[in-house]
Amino acid sequence: MEKKITVIKGDGIGPEIVTEAQKVLDKVAEKFGHKFVYTDILMGGCSIDKYGVPLTDEAVEVAKNSDAVLLGSIGGNTSTSPWYKLAPNLRPEAGLLKIRKELGLFANLRPANLYPELREACPLKDEIIGDGFDMMIMRELTGGLYFGARKTENVDGVETAVDTLTYNENEIRRIAIRGFDIAMKRRKKVTSVDKANVLDSSRLWRKVVNEVAKDYPEVELEHMLVDNCAMQLVRDPKQFDVILTENMFGDILSDEAAMISGSLGMLASASLNDTKFGMYEPSHGSAPDIAGQDKANPIATILSASMLLRFSFDMDKEADAVDNAVKKVLEAGYRTGDIMSEGMKLVGCKEMGSLVADMI
Ligand code: IPM
Ligand code: MG
Repeated sequence: MEKKITVIKGDGIGPEIVTEAQKVLDKVAEKFGHKFVYTDILMGGCSIDKYGVPLTDEAVEVAKNSDAVLLGSIGGNTSTSPWYKLAPNLRPEAGLLKIRKELGLFANLRPANLYPELREACPLKDEIIGDGFDMMIMRELTGGLYFGARKTENVDGVETAVDTLTYNENEIRRIAIRGFDIAMKRRKKVTSVDKANVLDSSRLWRKVVNEVAKDYPEVELEHMLVDNCAMQLVRDPKQFDVILTENMFGDILSDEAAMISGSLGMLASASLNDTKFGMYEPSHGSAPDIAGQDKANPIATILSASMLLRFSFDMDKEADAVDNAVKKVLEAGYRTGDIMSEGMKLVGCKEMGSLVADMI
């Protein structure tokens, strides 16, 4: 099969980790007889430096005309980088929000699971970890507080800022359907997270999720308030299968879930629209402090490439081959610095990429 992949290397460690993921994709292409044609576009700080904006319309067009997008990471150090002296709509993150909106990527899947080989990296106590955990956060990505009207103005001499949290029933329904669909392929449990004791948008969320649930009698549905969910994640993460939630809550809870897995450098993510198209990226950030030093862990990006193969190209065999290769490399004791533990073999970003590619 021939497929067009838009590549966004981005800032910080982005270029290094994406290069390794492409190494793995190239190996997949060779082994399974496919052709992946890459087109690079700029997004984030590198685009600001070249074009003065974090994402050009031309770049969006390139992405729209491809079959999937592979993204590294964007942004820099928010207290020292000159990018953060710019107006908010010109900063690196604005590029990310623009591409999500322009490509209609409303469904954000963030897996958070414990790798048995990396149990030591998990900050939770052994009795809490038990046999490990494996959850999928399904975060709504193009609505809510992120995209509501906002302004900062002076009201009677007092500086006042407003952000608007809006959801309509259609936006809630389509993400809820995605959440239940994915639960059907997993352990058939959905925890819908909201703040229905306070927010109208959450009360509508709960009502629509209940309606959607009627079409999935096999799936167990529970509702959980977001503050309780934040607590339950560290108290008993095993209880979760699919966590379905709105944009802002999903942003916060997905970082918490990533942290408890102890291996942020291992977690992939997918952002999908209502077709097969998607954008795939590691759950971690651009780590400017270690950029260019061959220290970054490319596995989250490699696993994102695997999600790309699975969700956008329907290449399940190929994706399984990538996931297994990562597993074998970990079993063989290779570790980048972030997941290093005693007795293991420390490798850099490039070597880790080559090891995984060689296992395919
Ligand atoms: C994420 C990030 C982004 C978000 C930022 C960089 C705008 O934190 O993908 O979770 O808040 O969505
Ligand atoms: Mg976030």
